[in-house]
Amino acid sequence: MNILKIKKTKSTNDYVLKFVKKRTDTVVVSETQTKGRGTKGRSFFSQKGGLYLSYLKFYENLDVSDAFSIIRDVSVAVVKTLLAFGVKAKIKWPNDILCDGKKICGILTENSIERDKIVYSIIGIGLNVNNELQKELEEIATTMKNLVGKQNLDSVLSTLIMNLATSSTFEEYRSLSCVIGKKVAVFQGEKVFDAVVKDILKDGRIQLESGETLSSAEIKIKI
Ligand code: BTN
Repeated sequence: MNILKIKKTKSTNDYVLKFVKKRTDTVVVSETQTKGRGTKGRSFFSQKGGLYLSYLKFYENLDVSDAFSIIRDVSVAVVKTLLAFGVKAKIKWPNDILCDGKKICGILTENSIERDKIVYSIIGIGLNVNNELQKELEEIATTMKNLVGKQNLDSVLSTLIMNLATSSTFEEYRSLSCVIGKKVAVFQGEKVFDAVVKDILKDGRIQLESGETLSSAEIKIKI
């Protein structure tokens, strides 16, 4: 795996595209991003002190129906990394990483698909380490610094890279989930409704108490 550290870019998820033609797994880490991207077209505030990286990973024979394995592996890798630094984190389906209900890490995976196979994935990870949060995020987000004090960014990065190199099991993902049994608000396109999460299925769908299963939606845990 190639590892490249840069000072500034718009988005590491875009920067890492340069390496696609080399067909080598590559991690690009940037100190800041000027146009960090989140899910659903949102922007991702990326101030110095956080860890902003994209992992370009190639697959030999990964079916699109197994796309959840990418999200599973990266979510578990991030939680294991945080645990190694004394931060107890959980996974809010599908791949937000929370500590005591506050988001500490966001993940944006972008897959390149050819004939029903995932050729490569760009796995973007934005982890709040020592960065200051915008005022409006203070209620809903947190940082490693807030929880366990200032961290050495290089140590967090090397632990994360090590964990990203290992795959996980569905049981690990499921045991780290913080949504099973919880009352949630579901945002699905124009639709918003309350539900209780019964379980998470192996393919990554969530099953609601109502019997409905969802493959993509945003959920908010209700207190
Ligand atoms: C989200 O929570 O909505 C996902 C956020 C993903 C942010 C990371 S930071 C590194 C990589 N580059 C980006 O532009 N986005 C991802």
